[in-house]
Amino acid sequence: MNLVILAAGLGKRMRSDLPKVLHRLGGRPLLAHVLDTARELKAGKICVVYGHGGEAVREALDAPDLVWVKQEPQLGTGHAVLQTLTFLDDGVPTLVLYGDVPLIGAATLSRLAEVAGTGLAVLTEFLDDPTGYGRIVRDEDGSIRAIVEERDAAEDERAIDEINTGFIAAPTVALKRWLPALGNDNAQGEYYLTDIVRLAIGEGLPVATTQPDTGWEVLGVNSKVQLAELERIHQGRNALLLMESGVTLADPARIDVRGELDCGRDVTIDVNCVFEGRVVLGDGVEVGANCVLKNAVVGAGTRIAPFSHIEEAEAGRGCVIGPYARLRPGTRLADDVHVGNFVEVKNSRIGDGSKANHLAYVGDATVGRNVNVGAGTITCNYDGANKHRTVIEDDVFIGSDTQLVAPVTVGRGATLGAGTTLTQDAPPDKLTITRVKQLTVPGWKRPTKKKPV
Ligand code: UD1
Ligand code: CA
Repeated sequence: MNLVILAAGLGKRMRSDLPKVLHRLGGRPLLAHVLDTARELKAGKICVVYGHGGEAVREALDAPDLVWVKQEPQLGTGHAVLQTLTFLDDGVPTLVLYGDVPLIGAATLSRLAEVAGTGLAVLTEFLDDPTGYGRIVRDEDGSIRAIVEERDAAEDERAIDEINTGFIAAPTVALKRWLPALGNDNAQGEYYLTDIVRLAIGEGLPVATTQPDTGWEVLGVNSKVQLAELERIHQGRNALLLMESGVTLADPARIDVRGELDCGRDVTIDVNCVFEGRVVLGDGVEVGANCVLKNAVVGAGTRIAPFSHIEEAEAGRGCVIGPYARLRPGTRLADDVHVGNFVEVKNSRIGDGSKANHLAYVGDATVGRNVNVGAGTITCNYDGANKHRTVIEDDVFIGSDTQLVAPVTVGRGATLGAGTTLTQDAPPDKLTITRVKQLTVPGWKRPTKKKPV
């Protein structure tokens, strides 16, 4: 089928400089969600009608399977679809979608196309409060007669609780006949797509209706309030899918996935965690409360304690991370590594079984296996102009409060005494220490306060 996605609207009520369809739901532009669904339908052609701020939309989401059609000025939904006609393949029906209705499901759209057959189909919904929507006007025998916009509706028509969601499926050849023939003699002076219902009936073409699988699929975003409402629905659905796949969530209402979260078996996630980009959690991973993970891969059995922040980083199996740990881009922890509270690791590899449990900065370093990094250790990787690497070989013990002034290497099995400021390589298997020798000053007295004269 041909897919037409309308995305030219101004989105005034968002009160934002960003085009409406670029506002984010689950961390991705509204329009990206619609495009996902469109691609699920294996559409032949996907036409996106853009207008206001459209170049930014195009830049953000351009892809080889998209045809971008500019609508300028914007004279209504019928006028919008009219712009795409030359790009539509006559041999298949055309479905109209909306860039600001992001949760529409592929199953619902497939059914809409199915009930259309060779005729027209409209996706309708029954609402307790139909205010603002086009109403579905039916004959006594129940067949659809017209869609009447609220502002054109008579009082008895306004009482109708069946509304037009906007989604339609239509024979393409018929659209090419109908749309150029639309008039704009209505309350808004617009070319209404909905008027094709009357034209279809005039030609004796069947007009079918069906409803969405769930009501929220057809909710649109016109304001920040609606955006927040849809975000909760989207997150709730994500949480449900995670639980159905076996993930334990302490509270499904307190998890935010802004991208893709891929979990193994028996993963447990405590409250208030945020997952961004693509995050992979292996079997048995535990994520404590209030963690933020972005583009991260975490190996099986690793435990991430509360308040940890992990970005563009990888951890192997059986690691213990946090609480209050920060793994920055380029961090790769091997297996059984411990990174404890207030430890920051950046652009560094840390080998199997190594530990940095308290208050440390490990940046631009290569750390071997079974290394112990004492509390307060810092790799001084930056000389004010350039970054340098620190190499710490296997089985090294680094005493507390040590500074490793890079570039520097600590040889295998070396021990650095607490308080060392290492400026040259430390030889393997030896104790290196740079502290001044402890001394006690004989006869020394604390100064006393002098009496005023
Ligand atoms: C439209 C329907 C109404 C339906 C409602 C559902 C018509 C005439 N009315 O009304 O029956 O109940 O949607 O939400 O179709 N757009 C363009 N170019 C335009 C005008 C609109 O791309 O010239 C896009 C908008 O960006 C928006 C969508 O079409 O995504 C709907 O436009 P909007 O003005 O919100 O239509 P409604 O008046 O709400
Ligand atoms: Ca609308």
